[in-house]
Amino acid sequence: MKVAVIGQGYVGLTIAAFASKTNRVIGFDNNQHVVDQLNQGTSHIEGVESISIKTAIALGNYRATTNGSDIAGAEIVVIAVPTPLDGARKPDLSFIEAACKTIAENITEPVLVINESTSFPGTIRTFIKPLIERLSSNSLEHLYAISPERVDPGRIDWDQKNTPRLYAGLSPEASKRTREFYSSFCDNLIEVSSPEVAEAAKLFENTFRQVNIALVNEFAQISHALGISVYETLEAADTKPYGFMKFNPSAGVGGHCIPVDPSYLAHVAEGLGVPATFIERANQVNLEMPKYIVTRVVADNGGTLSGKSVQVIGVAYKPNVADTRETPAELVIEELRLQGAKVTWHDPVVGNWRGESSTPLGGSDIAIVVTLHDALDKNSVLVSAPYVFDTTGRLHGVKGL
Ligand SMILES: NC(=O)c1ccc[n+]([C@@H]2O[C@H](COP(=O)([O-])OP(=O)(O)OC[C@H]3O[C@@H](n4cnc5c(N)ncnc54)[C@H](O)[C@@H]3O)[C@@H](O)[C@H]2O)c1
Repeated sequence: MKVAVIGQGYVGLTIAAFASKTNRVIGFDNNQHVVDQLNQGTSHIEGVESISIKTAIALGNYRATTNGSDIAGAEIVVIAVPTPLDGARKPDLSFIEAACKTIAENITEPVLVINESTSFPGTIRTFIKPLIERLSSNSLEHLYAISPERVDPGRIDWDQKNTPRLYAGLSPEASKRTREFYSSFCDNLIEVSSPEVAEAAKLFENTFRQVNIALVNEFAQISHALGISVYETLEAADTKPYGFMKFNPSAGVGGHCIPVDPSYLAHVAEGLGVPATFIERANQVNLEMPKYIVTRVVADNGGTLSGKSVQVIGVAYKPNVADTRETPAELVIEELRLQGAKVTWHDPVVGNWRGESSTPLGGSDIAIVVTLHDALDKNSVLVSAPYVFDTTGRLHGVKGL
């Protein structure tokens, strides 16, 4: 099959890499630099090896492009573009809108349009389909389906092949063709009764994580006030063989999914007049963790950080990826600067971020560990400053949550 994937980021490139084993894939992205790199066989995404891109190019099965007309002739178009929040923390569908425009302007034969971008229930039926129809100069009847992406970048035990994938078409034919496409590289496909169920399931999966992370973050604060170890208490609770799932406290949530997707669910709930109180409260708790951490550090350091040097260790939102989107490290740094601290950061995986470079490990009065990459030597981190505060629970013998 000839497949066009719109967006060659974490999701789109991962799909392109798997799909190009058995299909001819055009990876369309509007970032020229990304496209140039990909056409040279260099992957910019953890979990997608450059060798798989090079192999697909050599087989004639993959090419990246910034030219919308290159998607003409595709039988399947997969949408994998960002779905962030706007300034008011409401869904921003402008990237999906642009992708629909690319499809409408360049596709001249009926295709199957599959949305993999995370969005609220009803997006494929009430937003994508009518928009493509409205923007098209022809009256082609495309098929439409949703298959929300579950990729966890950097993870190797669960990938596109073995992670169960939900899907649903707007028509039985769309469902059938969606199944055919994914079964070329995914072992476990689960059809649900409507696209809305698949869209909502994706949002609920991430809301489940968001709420439980907030719960454990709140519990970390309660444990500290009680004078007990949150980690020992969680381990004790985790000995229960049923009805409990362990989440770990942290500086907050980051990435393109957990801090964002629940607000898409809250948005539809609001529109329907149904409260989404857990989501809102969980957002607050997670967003306040950086402030709580800095308050603890201030209390341990004579009540002020004014003039003190602080190094934040690990600014990616999770270990072993270079992804800094929505990273809680940003709020930790902001709060430290508000408290008058001189802040630098060290992250061997990220390297450059917000126009600043990673500084060598150590040399500050205080170190706060936000993300502990495997590339960081734990012993070096432990001795990197006279006072070390660990938010990860993976260092022993220092202050922490
Ligand atoms: N990153 C994850 O772990 C993950 C997991 C599951 C689902 N998702 C969802 O998948 C979607 C994509 O996320 P991502 O992490 O891959 O984003 P990303 O930022 O890594 O990649 C998006 C790519 O789309 C390109 N792009 C933006 N607008 C475009 C347009 N109009 N035409 C062509 N290319 C365009 C960007 O240049 C970028 O390369 C989002 O809805 C996200 O919520 C992400």
